[in-house]
Parts: sequence; C-alpha cells; structure tokens
Amino acid sequence: MTPSDYEYLRKLLKERSGLDLSADKQYLVESRLAPLARKAGLPGIAELVQKMRGHTEALTSEVVEAMTTNETFFFRDKIPFDHLRDGILPALIQARAARRTLRFWCAASSTGQEPYSIAMLLKEMPALSGWRTEIVATDLSQAVLEKSRSGVFSQFEVQRGLPIHMLVKYFKQDGELWQLNADIRAMVQHRQLNLLQDLSHLGTFDVIFCRNVLIYFDQETKAAIFERISRMIEPDGALALGAAESVVGITNTFKPYPDRRGMYCPNIARAAPRGAASSAMPLKLVAAAR
Ligand SMILES: C[S@@+](CC[C@H](N)C(=O)[O-])C[C@H]1O[C@@H](n2cnc3c(N)ncnc32)[C@H](O)[C@@H]1O
Repeated sequence: MTPSDYEYLRKLLKERSGLDLSADKQYLVESRLAPLARKAGLPGIAELVQKMRGHTEALTSEVVEAMTTNETFFFRDKIPFDHLRDGILPALIQARAARRTLRFWCAASSTGQEPYSIAMLLKEMPALSGWRTEIVATDLSQAVLEKSRSGVFSQFEVQRGLPIHMLVKYFKQDGELWQLNADIRAMVQHRQLNLLQDLSHLGTFDVIFCRNVLIYFDQETKAAIFERISRMIEPDGALALGAAESVVGITNTFKPYPDRRGMYCPNIARAAPRGAASSAMPLKLVAAAR
C-alpha cells in the first residue's frame, strides 16, 4: 500500500464511519483488509484501493464494515447495568407510572450482547411486568446486525459476562451453540444506522447506551454526536458511555449522573430542543409516519 493509498483510505473511513486513524495505523488497515482483498480475488490492498477508486459502492461499504471493531460481551463492565437496575430504572418506573412505557437505544449494538443484556435485565424486574418496553439496537454494520438478529451465540460468547442462571433461563443449547429464547429476541428491534447521519427519526428515549464507539472518533465528531443524542433523550433520561469514554472537555449537553459512574444525564440548562418525533411513538409508527 502506497502512502497515497493509505491517505485515501483514512479520508474515506473518516467520512463514512467517523473512524479517525492516526498516521501510523497502516498495520491495522493491512490486517483488516488483506482478507477482503483475497475474497475479491485481488493480489493486495493496493489493487483493492484501485478498485474502490473506481467508485464501487458495494466494495467500499465492505471496506468500511471490515474496519469496524465489533468487540462486545454480555453485561460488559457490569457497573452500568447495576446502575440501571438499582438506581436509574427505579426512578424512571416512578416517573413513568402513568404511561408504563420505556424506550431504550443501543447506539452501537454490535452482535447483540448489549441490547440482549438490557432485555434480560428488564425481564428480571417484576416492577416492569405489564409495561411496554422497547429496545432499539442500531449499528453501522449489516453483518453484526444479522448475527444479532439470529440470537445465536457460541460457547465462548455465552461464557463472557453472562450469569449462569440467565444462560439456563433464557437460552437453549443446540450442539456447540446457544439460541436465545424468542421472547427476549422479540424485545429488541434492529436497524442499520450510521451515527454520523440524521438520527431524529428514531424518536426520543429514556435510556441510551452509546458505548465503546465514540473512542474511535475525533473530538469534533464526538461533540456533534453528543449534540444530536441530547435531542433524543428525555430530560430525566440517562446516557451510558464506555469505561474509557466521557463527556468531560467535549460537550456540555450532558453532565455526569450523580453517584452513577459511567452514566450521564442531559444538562437541562444546555439542553438542545427535543427531537421532532414523539417519545411515546414506537419506531414502526415513526417510520410509517415519515
Ligand atoms: C466495539 S463495538 C461496541 C459494542 C457495544 N456497544 C459494547 O460496548 O460492547 C463498536 C460498534 O460500533 C459500530 N460502529 C462504528 N462506527 C459506527 C458508526 N459511524 N455508526 C454506527 N455504528 C458504528 C461498529 O460496527 C461496532 O459494532
């Protein structure tokens, strides 16, 4: 790969997915794209770039997807899920007692362990019995969304973070694989969505998980996404970020949630106007109304 090929890929990835590659990440690009070049029957990355320069949209999308990092596991970091169960949900259950509806968004949901962790957590809360809960899982990558939709996980995947009693209760073993029960799968709606694009059609949410994706973006992109997300969260809602992520020094649209590390709440004094779509409007209706 020539320096000019690398610059072409860096610029394209920044524009298409927000990925901010420093000048010394050629090895990463080589290791992620070499299998794709082989699959396309091309001798190497230089030829792959040459083909992309010929405006082949399908190949470009494959390259963008191949450069995403999809690492995830059930109940990742544990603490945000404890905060959700022990503090944030009890407060929201009180506040929403009249309408008995809660909306959740996993904004970079990868292969599904995060939204399904939320779904199982909700299922375990008797106070939510009879409530309408909606979990929207979105990701840039079609491949991870397909895997998420299938609800099929390997032995290795279910051994990472998933409590054994939940494995027994919510999964069925099928040889080497584990199939998540249909009722948990039905709690999650999947959508392909790029965080760089307009998000307002999703409506507004009570809880947003946007974890371990913003770390790949530059400050300006992070600030723009926080600004947009702040229009999509209820004033008393909560935002969860990854363990290595924070709003500090990037945006004042959110502030740390009191006594809940890793969680943030809208900074009402700085809140952006609410999203155009109604908070009570389910995704299917929002889509139909457009
Ligand atoms: C490291 S995974 C995080 C998964 C999960 N949130 C967690 O913390 O375990 C990051 C995910 O972000 C997705 N992603 C990367 N850029 C994106 C973008 N611009 N819009 C939406 N999703 C994106 C990737 O496809 C990947 O699945």
